[in-house]
Amino acid sequence: MSQEEASLEARLEEQEAFEPPESFVEQANVTDPGIYDEFEENWPECWEQAADLLSWENEYDTVLDDSNEPFYEWFTGGDLNASYNCLDRHVEDGAKNRAAIKWEGELGETRTYTYGDLLNEVEAFASTLRDLGVEEDDVVTLYMPMIPELPIAMLACARIGAPHAVVFAGFSADALATRMNAADSEHLVTCDGYYRRGDALDHLSKANEGLEGVEHDVSDVVVVDRLGDALEHSLADNQTDYDELVDEHEGESVEPVSRDAEDMLFLMYTSGTTGKPKGVKHTTGGYLAYTAWTSHAVLDVKPEDTYWCAADIGWITGHSYIVYGPLALGTTTMMYEGTPDYPDKDRMWELVEKNRVDTLYTAPTAIRAFMKWGEEYPARHDLSSLRLLGTVGEPINPRAWKWYYKHIGGESCPIVDTWWQTETGGHMITTIPGIDTMKPGSAGPALPGISGKVVDAEGTEVEPGNAGYLAVDKPWPGMLRTLYQNDERFLQEYWQEYSDEDADEWVYFPEDGAKIDDDGFITVLGRVDDVINVSGHRLGTMEIESAVVGVEGVAEAAVVGGDHDVKGEAVYVYAIPEDGQEPDDDLEEGVVESILDSIGPIAKPEDVIFTPELPKTRSGKIMRRLLENIASGNELGNTSTLRNPEVVDDIAEQVEAE
Ligand code: WTA
Repeated sequence: MSQEEASLEARLEEQEAFEPPESFVEQANVTDPGIYDEFEENWPECWEQAADLLSWENEYDTVLDDSNEPFYEWFTGGDLNASYNCLDRHVEDGAKNRAAIKWEGELGETRTYTYGDLLNEVEAFASTLRDLGVEEDDVVTLYMPMIPELPIAMLACARIGAPHAVVFAGFSADALATRMNAADSEHLVTCDGYYRRGDALDHLSKANEGLEGVEHDVSDVVVVDRLGDALEHSLADNQTDYDELVDEHEGESVEPVSRDAEDMLFLMYTSGTTGKPKGVKHTTGGYLAYTAWTSHAVLDVKPEDTYWCAADIGWITGHSYIVYGPLALGTTTMMYEGTPDYPDKDRMWELVEKNRVDTLYTAPTAIRAFMKWGEEYPARHDLSSLRLLGTVGEPINPRAWKWYYKHIGGESCPIVDTWWQTETGGHMITTIPGIDTMKPGSAGPALPGISGKVVDAEGTEVEPGNAGYLAVDKPWPGMLRTLYQNDERFLQEYWQEYSDEDADEWVYFPEDGAKIDDDGFITVLGRVDDVINVSGHRLGTMEIESAVVGVEGVAEAAVVGGDHDVKGEAVYVYAIPEDGQEPDDDLEEGVVESILDSIGPIAKPEDVIFTPELPKTRSGKIMRRLLENIASGNELGNTSTLRNPEVVDDIAEQVEAE
């Protein structure tokens, strides 16, 4: 490194605030700082700006109906169709030949669907689903990896008013069965397999195994042929090949069904405090308006862009910011099937260069991996097409932020650090890239119209700089409406009611810790419930624990998250063997297998520690914090309130030894 470079490096390291580059501001979708006041003064009517990004079949009468708090409704009386908004209207506006989806397969194959192509394929598949007996409001499960047929199936469902429930392809057979059972879903679309690091993975066998655990009849299963001859499968009687069906229905037109703004668009299962995943319900009007609005304001999406969100559609990020938001705005959205280090660690940068990508949206865990691999990989490529960078999923540490800023953005792209959740539908806390100063490590202010606060256990705002709970005390269009068929759990998991002389106030708690600065910038500190965040994926420790205690020979278990350089957090299992059971390799293997079977490889533990006892308080509660500290290699602090303090040292020694 030259002296000049070294001093530049030092300057970057110390810099705490960054202004958006002029070149970006000049072309940004949203640049008027007055938007914050405008939304506040004009709330909730300000949200018409979001609704105006859509085409409504019937205009709504009311922006917000809050007559039954906290079961808020948005844009009531309005009708629209999400697939019409993502496809037909762009074709009608002359964008028939613009690329809608650019797909990059792991082995180097590519497929481009123009808006015209995508509309045809969606109509053919919508017609297929109808033919198979799918009716409006039937939940269709999509257990698919990153292949174009996934967004096609989502939009086909939306077209006929059948909510989809996408199950991440990396989830296990059991996880599929649990979700299909919970949603009473009788229809499944899946595929034969997909590629990972060049190997063909068998997906259909996993799907079939999952189907065995479904408690009701599944009337039909559509199977996409992704692998050709790479894997041999025979289809069961109720299973049909996707291409065969779509060929039959090619050229058929299917009118988009008119959906009420509050009709369900999709269900997405996510992890919570208890072992049972939560079915988050999103609606057609509010969700679509909100994802379109945030794609416009935060991701600065423009129709002529090539925009790449490198998430998986199996999670909310892919739903909102690969599929619905970008397509509603008529842009070109990229999809990548594979891993970022196959065939080499410069794959992402090769794809950015080749496709002249304007905006890249990825996760801090990926950025930390890129850092570890080294700056020579991005340096091999021309990344000058990039205009904006984004991150999502977990807090980003300032070092990773600055690396991303320098080595990917060439110090000329703003970064949006977007805090949000499956439940919020879209971004909530982030800078607006054409307006706000950026402070690495802090997500930014709450978006215009979003009332983000940091409060104590009584719901009172804490002083700036102090840690508290993140809270949102006004509704927003993209919010979840309820947990599927479980209003009670919805109320209990997310809402607190506070009363004062004037009124009752309902406050939404995302279960994240945070602190706020004097200028309203919010730093998100991480989950405060029993959810851990592994590589940006939300996992319920209770779900994992129940897999562990299900293993023969295990008496009791505690699962916690420990710090991890790349993944952010990793899964640590502490287990007590049953009397007479040796804590041997077989038992460990049994524990790992059981976790893989009930959840999937994303929950694979970093370490399984057998111990004769778990640290417990005098009232018998397992001290999870202590176990987290052991896993993270932190100071253990005071253990004197434990019933069995001696066990802590034993466990810590074991962890260090491994
Ligand atoms: C965490 C993903 C800090 C947070 C969109 C939240 C973040 C959970 C950020 C939701 C961020 C997400 N900074 N933490 N920018 N983005 N999180 O439902 O703990 O998979 O509650 O949605 O991820 O995870 P989910």
